[in-house]
Amino acid sequence: MALHIALAKGRIHKAVMNCLRDSGYDFSTYAEDSRKLIFEDTGKALKVTLVKSPDVAVYVERGAADIGIVGEDVLAEDCAGAAVYEVFDLGIGRCRMAVAAPQGRSIDRSRRLTVGTKYPRLARQYFAAKHHSVDIIKLNGSVELAPLVGLADVIVDIVETGNTLKANGLEVLVYFMDFSARMICNKVAFKVKYEEIQHLITIIGRKEIQ
Ligand code: PRP
Ligand code: MG
Repeated sequence: MALHIALAKGRIHKAVMNCLRDSGYDFSTYAEDSRKLIFEDTGKALKVTLVKSPDVAVYVERGAADIGIVGEDVLAEDCAGAAVYEVFDLGIGRCRMAVAAPQGRSIDRSRRLTVGTKYPRLARQYFAAKHHSVDIIKLNGSVELAPLVGLADVIVDIVETGNTLKANGLEVLVYFMDFSARMICNKVAFKVKYEEIQHLITIIGRKEIQ
C-alpha cells in the first residue's frame, strides 16, 4: 500500500526529497524547480504531494494524506487542535521565534507596541505573558519590511540563519521559542499503515538530512 506524504512546500520539501532520493527512492519526474505538485516513486511505495505549509495538517487530518512533514512553528500557529498524531522530530528546519527590531532602535516598554508578524497567535501569547499591550498586524511574508517602512515597531518572526534580519538591518531583541520539522500522522493511517510509517521513520532517521 503506497504511503501518501504531504510535504510543506519550500525548504522542508527540498531537504526531505533529497533524503528520500539518497535512501534509494526514485522520483523520476521530480526536480526542485518543477511546477508539478504530485510525485510517485518508481517502486510505487511513496506518493508525495507538495502543500502550502499551513495546509499540511488539513490534508493529514482529513485523510487526504497519510502523513505530513511541516515546521513545528506552523503547527503551533495554524494547526493547534488538529486531530493528528505528531510522530517524529526530523531535526531539520531548526529555527527560533524572535522579536526583532531595526538595529539600535530602543523599545519603549511602557508604550503600546505595534507588532508585524506571520504568527499572530504566538506573538499574542508571548506579549500577553509579558503583560505588554500590543497591536498585532498579521502579515503573510516579507515581515522584515514592516519596521523599515513604519508599519510596525517590531516584528515577531522565525530566524534560521539570521541572514534575512541582517540583510535588512534588523537585530534580535529576544528569542522565545525553538522549532524543528515534525512528522504528523493521520489517526487511521497510523493503525492501517503502521509498518510503512515505521519504515519511513527509520529511513529518514538514519540519514543526515541537509
Ligand atoms: C522566513 C522567515 C524569515 C526567514 C528566516 O521567510 O519569515 O524571513 O525565513 O530565515 P533566515 O534567518 O535563514 O534568513 P521565508 O523565506 O519563508 O519568506 P516569507 O517570510 O516571505 O514567507
Ligand atoms: Mg520571511
